[in-house]
Amino acid sequence: MTSYRITLLAGDGIGPEITAVARTLLEAVSARHGFSLQFDPQPVGGAAIDATGEPLPANTLAACRAADAVLLAAIGAPRFDALPREQRPESGLLALRSGLGLFANLRPVKIIPALAAASSLRPEVIEGVDLLVVRELIGGIYFGTPKGRIEMDGGVRAFNTMVYTDHEVDRIARVGFRLAAGRRGRLCSVDKANVLDVSQLWRDRVEAIHAEFPAVELSHMYVDNAAMQLVREPRQFDVLLTSNLFGDILSDEAAMLTGSIGMLPSASLGSEGPGLFEPVHGSAPDIAGQDLANPIAMVLSAAMLLRVGLQQEAAAATLETAVDRVLAAGYRTGDLLMGEGCTRVGCQAMGEQLLAALPA
Ligand code: IPM
Ligand code: MN
Repeated sequence: MTSYRITLLAGDGIGPEITAVARTLLEAVSARHGFSLQFDPQPVGGAAIDATGEPLPANTLAACRAADAVLLAAIGAPRFDALPREQRPESGLLALRSGLGLFANLRPVKIIPALAAASSLRPEVIEGVDLLVVRELIGGIYFGTPKGRIEMDGGVRAFNTMVYTDHEVDRIARVGFRLAAGRRGRLCSVDKANVLDVSQLWRDRVEAIHAEFPAVELSHMYVDNAAMQLVREPRQFDVLLTSNLFGDILSDEAAMLTGSIGMLPSASLGSEGPGLFEPVHGSAPDIAGQDLANPIAMVLSAAMLLRVGLQQEAAAATLETAVDRVLAAGYRTGDLLMGEGCTRVGCQAMGEQLLAALPA
């Protein structure tokens, strides 16, 4: 029987609760589809700081490198905010992304019909939205140097550098074009080329790579306009290709089109080695440990892991069917709008419903 190694990073806050749900479902789905999964739980983020003093212990990174895929829940808690930046949980996540070479972050946003009423936008605006944010993940202003903070002239100056090389833009652009070619064939590259030199390079390279994908229709949009168009007419987008910081911001905005960020999965991929699969939402410390979390983004991330990380398409579809069924049956965690006939459930009960809803 094919067996895969999955490094499981539960992390902080609601992480352990939603990880437990995802693990149970992955076990059930793999048994149904004739392969087995070996889980290797490792600490990361605040949990790792508590256990080892650092947010990404060398053992955790090594375990991730040796795995077939990595499933991460969420990291971060307010009690670590006072630590120096490089010792905070978030730095562990950035080091993990960069240590695994995960330059391509895929964040699909698809309206689930049963939840259309949960959006803050009118149903006719969001109906049929199905877009994919392709965010560059290990470059740009998140990682650029010089960066720092210095005292000067009796004041303080702090700075970061937004930097991309042609090579970094080319490789993420190819991912964007390839994915667009497999969808509706439209790529919108988002930048700020009217102001930033780094964005002009971005635009020039995306144009150049377009020659390799003539069947894909390419457009460019300034990031401020893209932020507006996402709420004005989100259906116009198929694939949005953008840099690290712009992608961070736009993917939160796009996520909210669905009415809850608790629904959205993501995949982070490199050119070789395992991919990292994680919900777009954070660790929600305010509701941690209270059985209130929505495990669906985590479960859909597990489905992406099966599809993209392990090429187990049928198993991924099984998991997604269970999600559709449970939502259609009206089960809702606290973050989701209650409609007529809906039943309020906690994290664990949502997990039980998903398990019961798995197609045979
Ligand atoms: C995300 C998060 C992270 C990011 C933080 C936690 C470092 O907001 O995955 O979008 O900014 O990339
Ligand atoms: Mn973010």
